[in-house]
Amino acid sequence: MYTIAELTKKINTAIEKIQYNTAPKNLYVPIQYILSIGGKRIRPLLMMMGYNLYKNDVDSIINNALALETYHNFTLLHDDLMDKSDMRRGNPTVHKKWNENTAILSGDTMLIMAYQLFNKGIQNEEAWTAFIDATLGVCEGQQYDIDFETRNDVTEAEYMEMIRLKTSLLLGYALKIGALLGGADREDVAHLYTFGEKMGLAFQLQDDWLDVYGDPKTFKKKLGGDIVDNKKTFMLINALQLANTEQKAELDRWIATTDGDPNLKIAAITHIYNIIGIDRLAQQKIEALFADSLQSLDKVKVAEEKKAELYAFANKLLDRKY
Ligand code: IPE
Ligand code: IPE
Ligand code: MG
Ligand code: MG
Ligand code: MG
Repeated sequence: MYTIAELTKKINTAIEKIQYNTAPKNLYVPIQYILSIGGKRIRPLLMMMGYNLYKNDVDSIINNALALETYHNFTLLHDDLMDKSDMRRGNPTVHKKWNENTAILSGDTMLIMAYQLFNKGIQNEEAWTAFIDATLGVCEGQQYDIDFETRNDVTEAEYMEMIRLKTSLLLGYALKIGALLGGADREDVAHLYTFGEKMGLAFQLQDDWLDVYGDPKTFKKKLGGDIVDNKKTFMLINALQLANTEQKAELDRWIATTDGDPNLKIAAITHIYNIIGIDRLAQQKIEALFADSLQSLDKVKVAEEKKAELYAFANKLLDRKY
């Protein structure tokens, strides 16, 4: 069994060793840039941890794991363009450092590199299908995320389904693919998938919470971006639901305000969240989803000592600052 630290080291070393084509430089340098400025790398980690529950030769799936991280980074290049985000991992986003066309084309290239890497990894038909399903689902989720920006009647259930697609799928499928490649039985594959999916819901709610309440010194992204973009997060949906007539009118007015100083909008909406108690409400939901995810991990028929690292992973994730 490998620890989280040991697996992370393997992933970091493998990312450093990725061979990029040398030309055109303007296509590949941004890819190397986004992959070299860090990130938590939880998706390849989960894949390797899922595999390691059943097999010990974790190095043999390194290309499958790198494929998932490369795919994730592709989504970030396009996501930052769609969300008009200037900062990622404490550094300028690719469309800021270069330009929008670079973010589009280097992003497209990473999507292709992801399939190329998966193709170099261990071959298993079910794992391929899972990889394809996951990567398509994320795009569907991202479309709902964008559609919801201009709708003010999004329900919590619609939000949960949107984040299931855009975020949870990759976490669930990371574990599922790892388990499939490791030779897990049907039941374990399904429980590990559900563990990842539910943890992914908590993870995205927490991402949304951090976007409002994170510490600017440790968050590594610009605070308040979701508020500026009118993202229909769990927090905004519940604020709209729970607001009294005056608060509702003020929220509606700020949602309709798309010009002017963004900091005023962020401060005003955050203030309403604070009065309504949205901070605590989101925290409770995050904790409940995390707890729920662990129930699926409990059902995986692997010795407790082997699962210990996955429990530790979930607990660490719950405490994340970025
Ligand atoms: C950011 O993912 C996008 C979301 C799904 C919230 P991460 O929070 O995993 O970003 P990095 O890779 O660690 O930077
Ligand atoms: C994006 O969610 C999820 C992806 C599929 C990339 P966000 O838009 O909230 O992610 P961040 O906050 O920019 O990392
Ligand atoms: Mg987004
Ligand atoms: Mg974003
Ligand atoms: Mg976010």
